Amino acid sequence: MKERGNFGSKLGIVLATAGSAVGLGNIWRFPYMTGENGGAAFILFYIGCIFVLGLPGMISEFIVGRHAQTNAARAYDTLSNGKPWKLVGYLGILTSTIILGFYAVVAGWCLQYVYAAMAGKLVGDAAFVKTYFVTFSSHPLRPVLCGVAFVLITHIVIVNGVQKGIERASKWLMPILFVLLLVLVTASCALPGSMEGVRFLLQPDFSKLSNKVMLDALGQAFFSLSLGTACLCTYASYFTKETNLLRSAGQIVMLDTMIAIFAGLMIFPAAFSVGISPDSGPSLIFITLPNVFQQAFVGMPQVGWVISVMFYALLVFAALTSTISMHEIGTAFFTEEFHLRRRHAAWVITILASALCLFCSWSVGAFDIQLLGYSLMDFCDLLTANFMLPLGGMLACLFVGWYIPRQLVYDEFTNGGQCNKWFFLTFLFAVRYICPLAITLVFLHQLGWI
Ligand code: PFF
Repeated sequence: MKERGNFGSKLGIVLATAGSAVGLGNIWRFPYMTGENGGAAFILFYIGCIFVLGLPGMISEFIVGRHAQTNAARAYDTLSNGKPWKLVGYLGILTSTIILGFYAVVAGWCLQYVYAAMAGKLVGDAAFVKTYFVTFSSHPLRPVLCGVAFVLITHIVIVNGVQKGIERASKWLMPILFVLLLVLVTASCALPGSMEGVRFLLQPDFSKLSNKVMLDALGQAFFSLSLGTACLCTYASYFTKETNLLRSAGQIVMLDTMIAIFAGLMIFPAAFSVGISPDSGPSLIFITLPNVFQQAFVGMPQVGWVISVMFYALLVFAALTSTISMHEIGTAFFTEEFHLRRRHAAWVITILASALCLFCSWSVGAFDIQLLGYSLMDFCDLLTANFMLPLGGMLACLFVGWYIPRQLVYDEFTNGGQCNKWFFLTFLFAVRYICPLAITLVFLHQLGWI
C-alpha cells in the first residue's frame, strides 16, 4: 500500500482537529440552540455532556484511528478481526457525508452573506433584511450554486493532501478565526446594555431544563466535537505514535467549548443591547443579526459594515475547516478501500455531497421536500445530530471499553505507560459505563419510555 499522509507537527494536529470541531456548530448552531432552550441552564448541561461524554468519546475514536492507521471502516474491521464492528465505521462515513450535504447549504449562505455584507446589501429595515434572506434562500439556483461552490472549495483543499491541504489550511484559518472572534466579542460587549446578554448566558434558570433541552444539549455536544462521525478516528490515523491522546483531546475540547461560549458572547450582548430576542432559531444569524449590526452601530455605519463583513467571513472560515474534515472521512475511505487516486476519491464525495446539498437547499427554499413532517434539511440535521452521532459515539465507547484488548487501549491511551494510571482507569470507567448508560437514558427518555 502507498505511504499514508501524516500531520507534520503537534500544532498541526491540534489545529486541524480543533478546526474540525470548531465550525458552524459553534457559531451558528450553539447560539440559536442556547437562545431557543433558555440560555445558561442549557449551557451547563451542554458543558456536562462535553466533559463527561464528549472527552472520553473523543479519546475512544482517537485510540481506534491512531492504532489502526487507516480509514474508519478498515480501522474498526482490523481491530475486530472482521466482526461486524466495521459497520460503526460505515455509519460514521455515511453520517459525515449527510452532514456535509446540509452543512454546505448553510456554509453557502455564509459565502453569499460575505458578498452581501461587503456590497452593503444588508442595509435596510427589519422587513427588508428578512425579505433579502427569504428571496435569496428560496431562489432555485443561487443558494445551490453557493453551497456547491463551498463543496468545491473544500475539494481543492482535500486533493492537496493531509499536510499540504488539511494541515496548511488549518494553520492559516484557525488563527484568523480567533482574531476575528476576539474583535467581535469585544465590540459586542462594549455596546450599551450588553450586560443583559452576558447575564442570559451565565445565569442558569433550571426551570427551563426539559427533555428536549437535554437531548438538544447532547446532540449539540456531539455535533460540536465532530463525535460519532468517524472524523476523529480518521484524523487520528494521521497522528504520530508520539501524540499524547489525552492532552490533545483535552486541548481540543477546551478550545471548542471556549469558542462556542465566545460565539454566545459575540451574539447575545449585541442582540440584547438593541432589544432583539435571540431565540429566533436557525435564521438568527441571517435575519436577526444583520439588524442587530445596523442598530448597534447606528451612528457609525462604517463600523457596522466592517463588523458584519468580519462576522460572515468568520463563519466561512469556521465552516471550511469543518467541511474539510467531513470530506476527508469519505475521501480516505474511497482512496484506501477502492484503490482510487486521492483526487478521484474526492470527486465521489464532492458529487454525493453536492447532490444532497441541492435537495436540502431546495427543501428550505424553492420546493417543498419533506420527510416525516420536516423539511429534508431539518430532517438530516435532526437525524444526524440527535440520533446518528450519539449512536456512533456510544458504539465507539463500547468498542473501546469492552471489545478490544485492554492492554491495547492502555498502550494507546498512555503511549506505552507514559501517563498516570488513574487517568486511564477513569477513562475506562467512563467509556464502559457512564457514556453508554447516559446516552441510552437520553434515547429512552426521548422515546418517552422513561
Ligand atoms: N463539529 C463541526 C461543527 O461544530 O460545526 C461539525 C462537524 C464536523 C460534524 C465534522 C461532523 C463532522 F464529521
